[in-house]
Amino acid sequence: MKIFVINGPNLDMLGLREPEIYGSDTLESINAELTDYCKTVGVKPSFFQSNHEGEIVDIIHSARGNADAIIINAGAYTHYSIAIRDAIAAVDLPCIEVHLSNVHKREEFRHHSVLSAVCTGVICGFGKKVYTLAVDALTL
Ligand code: DQA
Repeated sequence: MKIFVINGPNLDMLGLREPEIYGSDTLESINAELTDYCKTVGVKPSFFQSNHEGEIVDIIHSARGNADAIIINAGAYTHYSIAIRDAIAAVDLPCIEVHLSNVHKREEFRHHSVLSAVCTGVICGFGKKVYTLAVDALTL
């Protein structure tokens, strides 16, 4: 099984960015741990990070034919990007929306996701474990 793991804006700043909310691990180390985990369950991950909405749309499009599923943390775009929502709907692949933080415990503007309705499921609030939990959701 091939999975595209897509991280959106400001997730390249993990480790430095509000560590009390997002933890002290960098995206690089989270991806390295996820790579190790994927090996144990026979999954081949491909990692992408972009701060640009259109680039994320392009990456999602390229999943078609190149991946069996998508894991996406779209960062703040989660809450308002209809373009990313439409891209997820267009490729018609299993897609898990993840968030490191429990967005429902935070500011009201984070409570709504425009992506959830076109995703298979949503996992949030478990820190970096959300990525391995998403792999489990796709494979178990
Ligand atoms: C986030 C939650 C979003 O509200 C925020 O804009 C992010 C990160 C998370 O992983 O908890 O950038 O997606």
